[in-house]
Amino acid sequence: MNYVLLFSPTGGTAATAEALCSGWDGPWETVDLTDRAAGFHRAFQPEDAVLAAVPSFGGRVPALAAERLSQMAGNGASAVLLCVYGNRAFEDTLVELEDTLTAAGFRCRAGVAAVAQHSIVPQIAAGRPDGADRAQLQAFGRQVCSALAGAGEGPVTLPGNRPYKERGGGMVPQAGTDCVHCGTCARRCPAGAIDPADPSKTDGSRCISCMRCMSICPKHARQLPAPMVAAVTQMLTQAAFGRRENELFLSR
Ligand SMILES: Cc1cc2nc3c(=O)[nH]c(=O)nc-3n(C[C@H](O)[C@H](O)[C@H](O)COP(=O)(O)O)c2cc1C
Repeated sequence: MNYVLLFSPTGGTAATAEALCSGWDGPWETVDLTDRAAGFHRAFQPEDAVLAAVPSFGGRVPALAAERLSQMAGNGASAVLLCVYGNRAFEDTLVELEDTLTAAGFRCRAGVAAVAQHSIVPQIAAGRPDGADRAQLQAFGRQVCSALAGAGEGPVTLPGNRPYKERGGGMVPQAGTDCVHCGTCARRCPAGAIDPADPSKTDGSRCISCMRCMSICPKHARQLPAPMVAAVTQMLTQAAFGRRENELFLSR
């Protein structure tokens, strides 16, 4: 059986994983790692294949995604690692994902780094994955599928450093005056950081800055502080300039 272990707060990682899987024989079952109600103590079989798909947050695996993946028992199942980033850099995300899954008992056999629209500054990599990305990711999926069917190849070599980058500081979206207290954000927050009784209260120590609440608010009432957005936009306009391409890493 094939599984997608998916952490996609705002949908870019999901769209990328879907394009990759379109070139890879199914059927697929998705485990939503952002769903607090989903069980994460899952056990896999050696003949299973998983696609572990996460965004890069500050060049790292989001800590909550790593924590939930660590609860799984790989039992020798094959793992393909997908890191999705917003056209700046993915730095240590793939090696951290590899270490997390290896420690959980998976055999990491391939990696993909792919670009999607930046979830904090949507002008960066706007509209990606686009048609060219989807076609390329589908071709990557075919290559990965045939590589997994082959036996006995060595471990995959992925870019990144150990020890990993330090994690960055958080940016906590706040509810504005348009908030109608519908509770959508509190229900769907991956971290349970928003008070369901009063969504204008966010626990900054639990918030993972994933932007899920901003992206799903039906009233567009949740925002980051404007000076923070201006500073990040200015930084990314330089650091994420030019189109970065998707990359496939297969073992030799
Ligand atoms: C807190 C945070 C940190 C991020 N850090 C990076 C980064 O270091 N490099 C980068 O290129 N993109 C970065 N991004 C952009 C996301 O990796 C990218 O938009 C991804 O597609 C988001 O996945 P999602 O749409 O599945 O939530 C960051 C986004 C967030 C919310």
